[in-house]
Amino acid sequence: MKAGRNLVSGGAVVAWLLVLVLVLVVLQTDFLQQITRFRVISITQVPNESVHKVSSSGLVSEGTSKQELREVAKSKAPDGMPNTTDSVADVPPCPAPSDEMDSHVIDGIKDLKHEDEILAMGGQIDGFLQNSDVAAPRSKLTCNFSSRHMDICAMEGDIRMHGKSTTVYVVAASNDSYWTENGTVTIRPFPRKHEVSTMAKVREVTIRSSAPVVTTPPRCTVTHNVPAVVFSTGPDSGNFFHGMSDMVIPLYITTREYDGCVQLVVTDYNHKWISRYQDVLAALSIYPVIDFDTDDVVRCFPSVHVGIEYHNTLGIKPALSRNGYTGMDFLGFLRSVYSLKRPWVTPVNLRSGQRPRLVMILRQHSRALTNEAEAITAATEVGFEVVAAGTEVVKDIAQFAQVVNTCDVIVGVHGAGLTNMVFLPHNGTVVQIIPWGKMKWPCWETFGSPAPNMGLRYVEYEATAEETTLKDVYPRDHAVFADPLSLHKSFDDMYKYFLNGQNVTLDIDRFTGVIKQIYQSITIT
Ligand SMILES: *[C@@H]1O[C@H](CO)[C@@H](O)[C@H](O)[C@H]1NC(C)=O
Ligand SMILES: *[C@@H]1O[C@H](CO)[C@@H](O)[C@H](O)[C@H]1NC(C)=O
Ligand SMILES: *[C@@H]1O[C@H](CO)[C@@H](O)[C@H](O)[C@H]1NC(C)=O
Ligand SMILES: *[C@@H]1O[C@H](CO)[C@@H](O)[C@H](O)[C@H]1NC(C)=O
Ligand SMILES: *[C@@H]1O[C@H](CO)[C@@H](O)[C@H](O)[C@H]1NC(C)=O
Ligand SMILES: *[C@@H]1O[C@H](CO)[C@@H](O)[C@H](O)[C@H]1NC(C)=O
Ligand SMILES: *[C@@H]1O[C@H](CO)[C@@H](O)[C@H](O)[C@H]1NC(C)=O
Repeated sequence: MKAGRNLVSGGAVVAWLLVLVLVLVVLQTDFLQQITRFRVISITQVPNESVHKVSSSGLVSEGTSKQELREVAKSKAPDGMPNTTDSVADVPPCPAPSDEMDSHVIDGIKDLKHEDEILAMGGQIDGFLQNSDVAAPRSKLTCNFSSRHMDICAMEGDIRMHGKSTTVYVVAASNDSYWTENGTVTIRPFPRKHEVSTMAKVREVTIRSSAPVVTTPPRCTVTHNVPAVVFSTGPDSGNFFHGMSDMVIPLYITTREYDGCVQLVVTDYNHKWISRYQDVLAALSIYPVIDFDTDDVVRCFPSVHVGIEYHNTLGIKPALSRNGYTGMDFLGFLRSVYSLKRPWVTPVNLRSGQRPRLVMILRQHSRALTNEAEAITAATEVGFEVVAAGTEVVKDIAQFAQVVNTCDVIVGVHGAGLTNMVFLPHNGTVVQIIPWGKMKWPCWETFGSPAPNMGLRYVEYEATAEETTLKDVYPRDHAVFADPLSLHKSFDDMYKYFLNGQNVTLDIDRFTGVIKQIYQSITIT
């Protein structure tokens, strides 16, 4: 798919660039920016004539082809079902980056090229730009530090990045934009702002915004004609919940709207994380990820986001996302990425001899089910076909996604493994077993609240004092039983007693009752 996109004919490249010109003309209200963008596009070998010749009607028809492709993708949804499938196929080609040094400049655009060089040298050519009709381009920098979760800066115009020095230059920023006394903003591009130890693993990115013709920005080595998004993979610990909630979903929110035509740039490059989520990354961006910290060239972009947008735990708030993306769209995207076959859970007709499937996530070291064999037997006796998934099985995301997608129900004690609910078909059921210790609220927050937003049904099973192994360790008058909430005051205590310190022994009769209800709700006799 990737190769196909890159192997477009020259004609297609030209046609697509023309679409971009239109889009820029439509979107840019600032005339000076149009000139800047136009120049950048010209350098990517678009003959001047065709740029000027194109009629608006021609451009519109090119523009709609992208829309048409989307319609085709949408029309694949089964009849009568909402269009929640966010297909990643069939996107038009993206413009390729151009090496400023090597680009074969077509005769007619030599002048433009020259002008670009002058701009790149900023104030070095005294008086030239100020006196010219064509003033320096206006760039814009907008930062938002008000979220509890993340800091984010968006900039557009003439943006240049030098990875090795972790610096982003916003050249010739206008004065109506975000401004600091000395024009420097620093930001750590990871959305867990208030976790000191997490953020310590995130390299700080410096954004220098220079006033028109005041400082000398570095010259572009490579010019990209797509936006860039800079984020850190430093804090990754291999935890699937955090990988999804703190990185994959925020990346989806920030980059999906570009339909693959976006350059991902990673600080604190973590090979394990990149390879683990390679399928998702390849669907979000057709370009290989750039390792920012070792990148010693100057890359120029028409727009850059530093930081990724986080809305809430494992979720998306449509009102906050520019394109109104929902949790269901995200699940549709994942189904497309991993080629998952079942978009919907449909009631199983028992007369057909089929049985609904239930995947049970089994933990090993803490919050393990001491009687997991009995629990599996119970679910089987209720009528489910049970898939028992140990830690090893869960490790290969692409493979386990296929397994989960064949199931109607996922069951597990609170833990990262339940994050695999994202691969359930629409209207699948999540059963969270909540360990002892008044853990209902934090557990609900982690999986209970996100589930319905992803189009999934949520069922809770809260372990009683009789069902925890803590009862073998602490007497009933210990705070663990007498006042569990008092142990929530310190996260370390909560972790020690209730997350790391117990296993669960299910009351099989009670568990059977809960599972039976679910079984009845998804089967037809
Ligand atoms: C699904 O998409 C089609 C075509 O875009 C549209 O006509 C239809 O109303 C959509 N259905 C829903 C439920 O949004
Ligand atoms: C376009 O390029 C041709 C050569 O291909 C040149 O003669 C002409 O002057 C150029 N037009 C503009 C507007 O740059
Ligand atoms: C900044 O972020 C906050 C929290 O995410 C949001 O409510 C607010 O609208 C944002 N401000 C701007 C100007 O975008
Ligand atoms: C730009 O804005 C800053 C802060 O708002 C102000 O102090 C400065 O004088 C302005 N500069 C110009 C050239 O208008
Ligand atoms: C300029 O930036 C530095 C570092 O970001 C900061 O410490 C300083 O207070 C800023 N202002 C001045 C006037 O130097
Ligand atoms: C929970 O069970 C696992 C596996 O049997 C065991 O290794 C672990 O020590 C148990 N933990 C507690 C807190 O009982
Ligand atoms: C989801 O499944 C439940 C239980 O089978 C059913 O009652 C409900 O109508 C389904 N929801 C949708 C939107 O199909």
